Amino acid sequence: MSQAAFRSPLRAANPILPRPAIYIGRRHQSTSTPSSSSAVPAPQQNELAKIIRDTIRATGPIPLSRYMQFCLSHPTHGYYQKGDVFGEKGDFITSPEISQIFGELVAIWFLTRWMEVDSPTRVRIVELGPGRGTLMDDVLRTLFNFPGIAQSIRSIHLVENSEYLRQVQKKKISKRIEGKDVDLSWYTGINEIPESDDTFTLFVAHEFFDAMPINTFEKTDMGWREVQVDNDPMHGNGLSTQTSKSGLRLSISPSPTPLSTVLPASSPRFAKLSTGSRIEVSQDTFKIMRRIGELLGTGKGGCGVVVDYGGDRSYGQSFRAFKNHKIVDVFDDPGNADLTANVDFAYLRESLAGTGTSALGPISQGSFLLSLGLQPRLRKLIDAATSEERKEDIRKSAQRLIDPLGMGGQYQVMGISSGEVTEEIYPFITPKKESKVLKP
Ligand SMILES: C[S@@+](CC[C@H](N)C(=O)[O-])C[C@H]1O[C@@H](n2cnc3c(N)ncnc32)[C@H](O)[C@@H]1O
Repeated sequence: MSQAAFRSPLRAANPILPRPAIYIGRRHQSTSTPSSSSAVPAPQQNELAKIIRDTIRATGPIPLSRYMQFCLSHPTHGYYQKGDVFGEKGDFITSPEISQIFGELVAIWFLTRWMEVDSPTRVRIVELGPGRGTLMDDVLRTLFNFPGIAQSIRSIHLVENSEYLRQVQKKKISKRIEGKDVDLSWYTGINEIPESDDTFTLFVAHEFFDAMPINTFEKTDMGWREVQVDNDPMHGNGLSTQTSKSGLRLSISPSPTPLSTVLPASSPRFAKLSTGSRIEVSQDTFKIMRRIGELLGTGKGGCGVVVDYGGDRSYGQSFRAFKNHKIVDVFDDPGNADLTANVDFAYLRESLAGTGTSALGPISQGSFLLSLGLQPRLRKLIDAATSEERKEDIRKSAQRLIDPLGMGGQYQVMGISSGEVTEEIYPFITPKKESKVLKP
């Protein structure tokens, strides 16, 4: 089986994407002197690039979040509106698409939490950004094997803004719930999901928050300044030394903007950073996660997992673009490349404050999957496979999910539980320090 690329930035272990460092886009180009690289030819024909350039011409530089919204969610030219971007033929691959074990073990965690709270008889499942619907399909297939929870699942709520992907999800999930009394609904935003006093909510977001628009800020001697998207005035005249094919570039706003006065103040961690630091902050992430907290923290409560690349800290230079399994310039082909940034899990935790929920972890994807029984499940799947080739495929795929130098180490899993958690919840446990006393 050949290996399609996943979207985490460190990919030394991946043969398709040898670039080992985080790609930083064109961040220096607007503020540094032009390099001696060759001039860029006339602008390419990219309809969305033209729309963005015209917008900037009319109203001035735009926030990075607006640029991402144009590129990912524009109704006709947006990246996720166009077709299937996953797998070998798409631009990247995700864990649920690599091995069914991923979704199965997420389901097992759901099952343990549901049992822990005395098995409520009304359950709903909420997923943000379900992609091809593979994760939800694997979760449902697994939970339907356990009669107690199977009979309690009343509804599935999917937040998805791509009409194309909604159809793909509908085809797969409708088949799975055929003949069962389970409602299936789609929403364009989390705020549309109704509150429910009598239902226990299971929530999952896999590689969703990394697609949320970010804004970037730089700490200067005069305070935080916003890094915006601007037109290169020299573009297309044969004299420009900028290399972005679209004529778009980053520039730092000389004065405070509405966003630069609000977002860098949204976490006490940002104030401690030194001059020259950059931060990527996602306002949408904060609002969505807070709403999830409110949904899980009221009524019958609930639990959830967020899985994504990133860490328990902020990032400043992780914004990047993917096309055909390669990292490309974030401005070269707007709408035709995936845009993504690392997830600040500490910010996710901060956004839950006061919602009646507790954040668990994050822990690495490898620890999460191994703790929940990846090895025994893998053995069963290998035993059931009928050819040596299939057995090897299954083994390699599972290995990929837990590889500490790849997805197993770079993807993090954060749990959420309703109520105040006073004891650690498995597998989100702090590793015990090794005893230094040698036993006789
Ligand atoms: C990187 S894909 C991950 C898909 C899937 N969870 C997986 O891991 O295979 C991101 C998903 O989020 C959806 N998405 C991106 N931005 C969104 C938004 N603003 N609102 C709703 N869905 C969005 C995309 O259409 C896609 O389904």
